[in-house]
Amino acid sequence: MRIVFIAAECAPFAKTGGLGDVVGALPQYLRALGHSVMVVVPRYASIDAARYHLRWAHGPMGVWMGDREEWCAVHVADSHGVPVYFIEHEGYFNRWGLYHDAHFNDYADNPRRFGFLTRAGLQLCKDLNFAPDVVHVHDWHTALGAAYLKIWHWNDPILGGAASLLTIHNIAYQGKYPADHLPYLGLQWGNFTPDKFEDNGALNLLKGGIVYADVVNTVSPSYALETRTPFGGHGLAPYLNAKGEDYFGILNGVDYNTWNPQTDALIPARYSAEDLSGKAICKRELQRRLDLVVSADTPVIGVVSRFVEQKGLHLLAQCIEGIVQHMRVQFAILGSGDKGLERYFGTLPARYSGRIGCYVGYNEELAHWIEAGSDFFLMPSLFEPCGLNQMYSLKYGTLPIVRATGGLNDTVQQYDEATGEGTGFKFDEPSAHAIYYTVGWAVSTYYDRPHHMQRLIRTAMAQDFSWERSAEQYVQAYQRAIHKKRAG
Ligand code: ADP
Ligand code: GLC
Repeated sequence: MRIVFIAAECAPFAKTGGLGDVVGALPQYLRALGHSVMVVVPRYASIDAARYHLRWAHGPMGVWMGDREEWCAVHVADSHGVPVYFIEHEGYFNRWGLYHDAHFNDYADNPRRFGFLTRAGLQLCKDLNFAPDVVHVHDWHTALGAAYLKIWHWNDPILGGAASLLTIHNIAYQGKYPADHLPYLGLQWGNFTPDKFEDNGALNLLKGGIVYADVVNTVSPSYALETRTPFGGHGLAPYLNAKGEDYFGILNGVDYNTWNPQTDALIPARYSAEDLSGKAICKRELQRRLDLVVSADTPVIGVVSRFVEQKGLHLLAQCIEGIVQHMRVQFAILGSGDKGLERYFGTLPARYSGRIGCYVGYNEELAHWIEAGSDFFLMPSLFEPCGLNQMYSLKYGTLPIVRATGGLNDTVQQYDEATGEGTGFKFDEPSAHAIYYTVGWAVSTYYDRPHHMQRLIRTAMAQDFSWERSAEQYVQAYQRAIHKKRAG
């Protein structure tokens, strides 16, 4: 099969969260299954061209938008055998932020930036003579691709046969913008109806993508069910339900080439389930790095997260001080985003010296250190389409403490205090109380049932969420989309 991914992020080149991890990894595993895959992403200013050996590939390339032609250049880099193409457009992508400025304000021209990216990705297929069987688009940013194939390219010798798969990584972000972007995006006003792109007078790019895509999936089975309900669907449940069996969940995988304590070159020492001595070194070094009291027998709770409402960190803010006042624990926190949360968590180390460490910002290496050096990993998400960090944690023998929602529920098995079975600690209620008491449960397990801790860690490290299985499920989804397209 020939597959083109068009996306806003692709690790290691450009990433703000799990979308980047998925788009960075899945194509490699599809390639290993014998498929021909290319990836198209923007060339953001933050991409280090020298480090990744970007080279000029094509251009100038003309891209027809609805009311004008845009021009761009295309560069390419190799990612483990997968060509990743970078669309260079000075006005749209030569900015440091992917989606917003330094103050976290969304760029007002985001629909144009990503609409253009999507069109450019399709144009590139034509210019490279790469006739895809499937165009795989991700989130609202490139959801338009599914519509473009049907509205603009149905008759095209290169693109006319392509089916579309839309993956929803997060339904809370829908790409809702004023309708005056419609002409630029090349969507005739006939598309501005409630059954397509119109949403209470605005343009909803994800909604239109859902309607037009041959097949739609999300990133865990539980989240697929949750998004079919009024609460979880953020307004789009009826459109997902209308897809019937053409909407389902495929659990994300983990790229164990990047996230594996036995081989991780970023952490202070490597370790395995058979020999955890390296984990003790990682813990000591983490405590040093974040100015925590160096203590082998005080449990460290790690947090690595975008600071956004979804992640439930405002609930943690309500109980973290009670936790450190009443329990002998430490926190290692890494994240950025909401300015209020940045200020709150950023000032905790000064108030709870040696007990709470926090780095406000984005730091790939520190994320690995926290995975390796912590005893527990906390994710109190209000909702979580999949979540990757809890799966990384399992591999690093760092027991997840999670709210039982979406992918967190699908990947963490509840600890059974009677038998010692399970891989982590789960709670249901989205509240500070539930976080407080579940952290307490984990901490008491650490101190009072060390034999269970050992068993939990062993079971956690043996979990296998490798991409191979998920990649096969994606191949089935592609086949379904192709079948659908041919039948239609
Ligand atoms: P989401 O995509 O909603 O942010 P995921 O759990 O799927 O959540 O993926 C988050 C990814 O982003 C992980 O690889 C995590 O390590 C990384 N990440 C998030 N915040 C930071 C940060 N401040 N520094 C480094 N990595 C981060
Ligand atoms: C989104 C979700 C996260 C998921 C990631 C990758 O950012 O918030 O749960 O793991 O996409 O699919």
